[in-house]
Amino acid sequence: MSSQSAIPNPQSAISVTFTLNGSSVTVEIDPADRLLDTLRYRLGLTGTKEGCGEGECGACTVYLDGVPVNSCLIPTYQVRDRKVETIESLDPRALEAFERCGATQCGACTPGVVMTAWWIRGHPDLLRTHTIRELMAGNLCRCTGYDGIVDSIKEALGER
Ligand code: FES
Ligand code: FES
Repeated sequence: MSSQSAIPNPQSAISVTFTLNGSSVTVEIDPADRLLDTLRYRLGLTGTKEGCGEGECGACTVYLDGVPVNSCLIPTYQVRDRKVETIESLDPRALEAFERCGATQCGACTPGVVMTAWWIRGHPDLLRTHTIRELMAGNLCRCTGYDGIVDSIKEALGER
């Protein structure tokens, strides 16, 4: 369920500073605010999407200290002094293979899929012990049937 961040109550607001896409940001938040909402509604980074809001679909995937996480499950205060990266930080060329391979239709899952896929690309050793489908299991897509997603990752890895 969405819980969009309004301007926090000054009585309960806390200040959180973290690194976002390479720059230091400080934001006043309510202690209950989710990172997903802080990114979208307080900081204007709407590339990160909300699907289930329950940690199941991966649409809200961002990197926290370099590791993909579901931002709908992360309280914003927990990213204090840490490094957050969103889809806006990726080179737009990261999307080209997805467009070519039919890996995106409605697009709701695409930012999260691309974030996880680009992380796999940066950690190819994982493919010695896991298949692409296993590594992408946390990113659900209702449209593509996944073949295009797998093909695009193979292309990004130079395997096609
Ligand atoms: S919106 Fe976060 S996992 Fe679905
Ligand atoms: S393209 Fe529609 S949910 Fe994946």
